[in-house]
Amino acid sequence: MQLNTHLQQMNGSYLFTEIVHRTEVYQAAHPDTRILRLGVGDVTRPLPQPIVDAMHRAVEELAHRETFRGYGLEWGYPWLRQAIIDNDYTPRGVSLDIDEVFISDGAGSDLGNLSELFDAHNTVAVLDPAYPAYEDTSLMAGRAIVYLPCTAENGFVAQLLETQVDIIYLCYPNNPLGIVLSREQLKQWVDYAREHQSIIIYDSAYEAFITDPTIPHSIYEIDGAKEVAIEVRSFSKTAGFTGVRCGYTVVPKLTGLNAMWLRRQCTKYNGTSYISQRGAEASYTPEGKDALRANIAYYQQTAQVLLDGLRALDYEVFGGQNAPYIWCRVPQGYSSWSFFDHLLSTCQIVCTPGAGFGPSGEGYVRFSAFSPREDCLEALERMKTKNLKS
Ligand code: MLT
Repeated sequence: MQLNTHLQQMNGSYLFTEIVHRTEVYQAAHPDTRILRLGVGDVTRPLPQPIVDAMHRAVEELAHRETFRGYGLEWGYPWLRQAIIDNDYTPRGVSLDIDEVFISDGAGSDLGNLSELFDAHNTVAVLDPAYPAYEDTSLMAGRAIVYLPCTAENGFVAQLLETQVDIIYLCYPNNPLGIVLSREQLKQWVDYAREHQSIIIYDSAYEAFITDPTIPHSIYEIDGAKEVAIEVRSFSKTAGFTGVRCGYTVVPKLTGLNAMWLRRQCTKYNGTSYISQRGAEASYTPEGKDALRANIAYYQQTAQVLLDGLRALDYEVFGGQNAPYIWCRVPQGYSSWSFFDHLLSTCQIVCTPGAGFGPSGEGYVRFSAFSPREDCLEALERMKTKNLKS
């Protein structure tokens, strides 16, 4: 037996596991302290009532012999796939076949699993900083990585590559930077991929947070993208499904990868829970849509509160306008991890150190607007009182 040496050699622990660990150590030493969690992007508003009702009905169906269901389809129920096309794509001028949409147990799993479609010798480009799963899964497979620095100097927009890469992970609205790409900027990536026969894995888990009407929500709004892009989305951040689990991945037939992904899923995935899929379907009813809009508006307003509050405390902040994340430069003299530790020990606030998202994240931390509004206000108050910048 030989181990996967690529996995064996991975450094340290997963970013969010390390944050949970440091937070738990601090909490154990200070049991009476109320820690404010503005770290991981985990939603905090309960499931909307129309979704709860749909899930209750689904459980009830499973409780009776006449309506019981066992294994579902590995690629998801047609009523949910059609609702996705009708609501998320057709209104944006994107036409998809129903068998190009695959229901998943969330974006995170598919973003990792998709790497199985490609040979180990492919080169992978990841934005730097980026959601760590892109880099981690590529390293686990032994692939070479090209980092695309996104820094204050380039306005956090990566330069287009001059060399050949095979797989490109893009995420817009961006996690962790909280910024978006214009239609023209996104088109440049699609053109690059067409010219270089590369594939783009497009993480658009945060598309519902876009407020600027000129910004594309789907990569398929760009001509030619169906030839070169897979798009991954989630119900986690909109419908409150971080614990429920449901998302979807679009693999257009024009990429030549649709049949392979179907083959992979049928072998390795037994389908998303019927209850989760009925809940996700309810997010497309008129009442469901209203509830989701209210959820998203709440988080958007919280992001604005954080942006304004941090600016008033003289922090340099970015993002947060079309995304639920705020990218914040740490005060002079700190690294992103040392500021994380300082914020935890002096204000009992958890953020996410920028360096955990890649080398160019050093010198920054990320604040998540998925936390309760009152916690964000209290966090700003604690930061003001302790005057961390002095
Ligand atoms: C994050 O905090 O970056 C993400 O929300 C974590 C995730 O979606 O897995």
